[in-house]
Amino acid sequence: MSLSERLRTIFPAWDLIPEPHRPQLPIEQREYLLGGEIRTWEGPLDPVRSCVCAPGGPPQQIVLGGCPLMTAADSAAALEAACRAYDHGRGGWPTMPVAERIRHVEEFAWRMKEKREEVVRLLMWEIGKSLADSRKEFDRTVDYIVDTVDALKDLDRISSRFTIEQGIIGQIRRAPLGVALCMGPYNYPLNETFTTLIPALIMGNTVIFKPAHLGVLLLRPLLEAFRESFPPGVVNTVYGDGPTVIGPLMESGRIDCLAFIGSSKVADILKHQHPQPHRLRSVLGLGAKNAAIILPDADLDTAVTECVLGSLSYNGQRCTALKILFVHRSIIDAFLARFVPAVEALAFGMPWEEDVRITPLPVPGKPEYLHRITDEAIAAGAEVLNEAGGTVSGTYFHPAVVYPVRPGMDLYSQEQFGPVVPVATFDSIGEAVEYVVESPYGQQVSLFGRDPGRIASLIDPLVNQVCRVNINSQCQRGPDTFPFTGRKNSAEGTLSVSDALRVFSIRTLVAAKSHDMNQQILTDIVRGRRSNFLSTDFIF
Ligand code: G3H
Repeated sequence: MSLSERLRTIFPAWDLIPEPHRPQLPIEQREYLLGGEIRTWEGPLDPVRSCVCAPGGPPQQIVLGGCPLMTAADSAAALEAACRAYDHGRGGWPTMPVAERIRHVEEFAWRMKEKREEVVRLLMWEIGKSLADSRKEFDRTVDYIVDTVDALKDLDRISSRFTIEQGIIGQIRRAPLGVALCMGPYNYPLNETFTTLIPALIMGNTVIFKPAHLGVLLLRPLLEAFRESFPPGVVNTVYGDGPTVIGPLMESGRIDCLAFIGSSKVADILKHQHPQPHRLRSVLGLGAKNAAIILPDADLDTAVTECVLGSLSYNGQRCTALKILFVHRSIIDAFLARFVPAVEALAFGMPWEEDVRITPLPVPGKPEYLHRITDEAIAAGAEVLNEAGGTVSGTYFHPAVVYPVRPGMDLYSQEQFGPVVPVATFDSIGEAVEYVVESPYGQQVSLFGRDPGRIASLIDPLVNQVCRVNINSQCQRGPDTFPFTGRKNSAEGTLSVSDALRVFSIRTLVAAKSHDMNQQILTDIVRGRRSNFLSTDFIF
């Protein structure tokens, strides 16, 4: 079968899909978690469409089912439940001993593991992530929870002692902030939602979480685990249209912490909705246009392997993806002679197919957008170098290597967040560095080269432009113990296993002038285990 025929018939008939990967349709989610109960939604459902289309005729996305289309009154009920559970810091959860909160989170992780296959299947069907990457996302999330527990134990051990300075005794710990609103992105709807949700919870905050607009149903199998593992009101879910359900939450002024992964435009709207923005702690993961700079002496095998991975893993739909490649003019032909066949060799198809790397896209209108910016570059003199690059078949967009991309083209400046790889050339390294300096984003960069002197001379200016400089390696978030953040429009706050614990809490202390009476009081409290905060208990 020719490539164009394979692309035209990319979506399989239902009965050709292997049985274990076929979901039972329709999946009508009516459950939501409020105040410790799984309630049944009686209102209208928002249809949930798969990125997988039905074959034959004009491509139609398969309707998987629906989820609650809530109103402002419903999100107000979630807010009320979270505020009640927090009770201005006096609730059972925020005042609970750290060791007990850890036990609740461990129980959740244990229950969550039982839902692996269900969640993985929905990750494939809702957002088109390959089976291997969906499993990786699930397992990485469980690991993240385990690592978070270990990091909190470490933090707590350090805080389980008094210090005496200038005649003042103090015990310094981290205390919760209040009610946290957590919203994850569609590309990592499980992992990135949980990398804020879990640290927010374990530090004693109560949480309202709204799943991403795509990748909603996959969280449904976990509702029961949340209900069973946490006290009432500590975790509450909200579904529906963002402006309808989230706007009023922010406007209420009762959200103390906003954890949001998405666009800077939406983040700005949310922050401005808060009546007293100075009271709001924001943890934001936003856009990026990470560049790879391929120097004249680069090892081309390494550069090609890493640039294919970096630009096209999960179809380029990663905030950390390489979104433009700058290649030195002296090696551009040699680079493209290897890079284009490597892209052409990527297996494409349905998420459950073995070794598949390129899959359909979940965002409505995305293939058309990618087609438009590719066409615009072609009209301005660029070419698509790989066979059938840019072909659209329903929700599927065949990856396109576009060269030469120049200033003025949308592909040069816009974050495409999809399987289009813009390639540009440079003559002097200053041009590539200038691109990074002038970019509105500041997340990461990748440098490919062998000369330590030249690499060193680039590291020093670049570390003040972005927050991670990768040497002969693609850009990426992991390992999750490394700090993940960005400058300019790319992030606010730092996330890593240990940083997240800090982000969702505030240093708080009990202090007393050191004299007999105070020493006696403190000793009595600690010996009698009268306070959960003022304590020298050591968590093993
Ligand atoms: O979408 C942004 C993710 O945090 C990227 O994570 O680099 O591990 O794919 P990753």
